[in-house]
Amino acid sequence: MRKASVLIDCDFAIGHTDPRLFGAFVEHLGRCVYGGIYEPGHPTADEKGFRKDVLALVKELGPTLIRYPGGNFVSGYNWEDGVGPPTTRPVRLDLAWFSTEPNSFGTNEFMDWCRAAAVEPMMAVNLGTRGGDAARNLVEYCNHPGGTAWSDLRRAHGWDKPHDVKLWCLGNEMDGPWQMEHKSAAAYGAVAREAAKMMRWVDPTIALAACGSSGRNMPTFGQWEDTVLEHTFDHVDYISLHTYLNNYKQDTASFLASADLMDSFIDEVVALADAVAAKRRSGKRLMLSFDEWNVWYRTRRNRADRVKEGWPVAPPILEEIYTMEDALAFGGACISLLNHADRVKVACLAQLVNVIAPIMTETGGGAWRQTIFFPFAHMSRFGRGRVLRTQVESETYDSSYYDPRGTQDQVFAIPNVPYLKIAAVAQDGGGLSLFLLNRDLKQEIEVSVTARGFALLSVGERLELRHDDLKATNTRNAPGRIKPAPLQSVALDGERLQATLKPASWNVIHLTAS
Ligand code: AHR
Repeated sequence: MRKASVLIDCDFAIGHTDPRLFGAFVEHLGRCVYGGIYEPGHPTADEKGFRKDVLALVKELGPTLIRYPGGNFVSGYNWEDGVGPPTTRPVRLDLAWFSTEPNSFGTNEFMDWCRAAAVEPMMAVNLGTRGGDAARNLVEYCNHPGGTAWSDLRRAHGWDKPHDVKLWCLGNEMDGPWQMEHKSAAAYGAVAREAAKMMRWVDPTIALAACGSSGRNMPTFGQWEDTVLEHTFDHVDYISLHTYLNNYKQDTASFLASADLMDSFIDEVVALADAVAAKRRSGKRLMLSFDEWNVWYRTRRNRADRVKEGWPVAPPILEEIYTMEDALAFGGACISLLNHADRVKVACLAQLVNVIAPIMTETGGGAWRQTIFFPFAHMSRFGRGRVLRTQVESETYDSSYYDPRGTQDQVFAIPNVPYLKIAAVAQDGGGLSLFLLNRDLKQEIEVSVTARGFALLSVGERLELRHDDLKATNTRNAPGRIKPAPLQSVALDGERLQATLKPASWNVIHLTAS
C-alpha cells in the first residue's frame, strides 16, 4: 500500500469557483440536438419537443451553463436560418460534419431549452464565413428589448422578452485548418476585435471570449495567443482553450497523467495573457474560458470518411462510449479545473448528449449515464466554494503521453506525476469537499489529510467510483454497471482524516461542519 499526506488550511485559498466553471456544450453535431435534447414525438417529449428524460438527467448532472451552437458547426452557420416559422427555415449542408441541417431547432428553441434545464446560455458567433455584422445583429436579436428591426423580429417570432445572453464566444477554434474560413492569428484578431466592439456597442453588459488555441499541441500555440491578444486585449474578458485527452497508446498510466498537462496548459495561457498585459502596463487580468474539455479519441473521423457517408441528418457520429478509465482521466481533468479556480472562470464539458457526452440516448428509446457522468456531477454538486491550496506528499511516476495533431505525432514527457491527485473545496454552505484520484493501477493509497482551521467537521457523503475492469462501460442494456458506491474506509479524528483509496479510483469525501 502507498501512503500520501495532504495539508490544507481553511484560510489558504486559490480562489472561488465561478458558477460558470460547471458548463457543458450543445453543438449541432450528430445526435446532440436532434435525438438528444430535442426529439418531437418521443414518448417523453414535452409540447416543445424537449425530451423530459434527458432534461431529468441534465438536472442530475448539474451543468450551470451551456455553450451553443458550436463548435466547428458555428463557423458556417447563418443564425437567421434557425429563427422564424419552422416550416420556412432552409435546409442546409453543414460542411463541418458533412451532415444535412434541417434548422428546426435554433436560437429561440435553445433559449427555451436553457430555461427548462435551468442553465445559462453561452452563445458562439460565426467568425468563419460571417463576421462582425452578423454577430452584432444576433446580439441585437437576442438582447435588445424592441423597437428595432432585429429585436422586433424576435418579438414577431414569439419571444417578446429579450433573451439577455450575457456570455459570448468570438468564433470557434479559428487556429485550426479544419475550421471553415480558418484564419491567421492576425486576421482573426482583427475580425474578433471589430466584432467585439460592435457586439458590446449593442449591449455593453455582455462578456466576450476570444479564441485561444484549440489544443496545447497546436504548432501555433503561444504565438497565436500573443497575436490575438495584441488585437483583442482591450475588448475581451476571456481567452479560450480546448483539450481532449486520449489513450491511443493504451498506456493507462500515461492517460491518467495526461490531465496534468491541462494544469500546464492553463498556467501557460495565464502567462501568455499576463505577458500581453505587462507589455501594455495594464492591470487588467483576462480570465480563461476552458470551453471544450473531455476525453475523446475513438470516434475522431477524417473528412474523407465523412464525405463517403453522404449528407445524413443527425447521424450517430462521435458517439464515444466511455470506460471506467476514461472516467478516471476525466476526474483528473475536473481536479485540474478546480485547482485553477482563480483564473479559469468558464469551462464547458464537450459535449452534453450523445456526442462525446455524459448522457446517451436511444432515438425513440431510453437515456442513460456514461461513466464520465459521475465525476462531473460530483464536481458540480460538491465543488462550489473556495478552492483551497493542497500541499501533497505522494510518491510519483514518470510517463510519456502521445498526443497527435493532424499528421504530426507528438509525445510529451510528464515526469513526477503524483499517484494522488486532489482538490479541496471549502463549500459555500459550510463543510469541506475532497476530490481524490488514485492513479496507481495496482496499489491502494492510504491518505492522511490534515484540515487546519475547520472546526467540528464530521464525515458526510463519501463516494467511490471504480471497477475491476478498467475497460468496463455503461450501455443501454447495462446502464448501471459503473456507478458510485459508498467509500468504506474513512475515519476522522479532529482535524485529521484518514482514508484508503482503492487502486484506479475516483473518490469524493464531503465533510460537514456542525
Ligand atoms: O466537440 C467536438 C469538436 O471538437 C468541436 O466542434 C470543435 O470545436 C472541436 O474541434
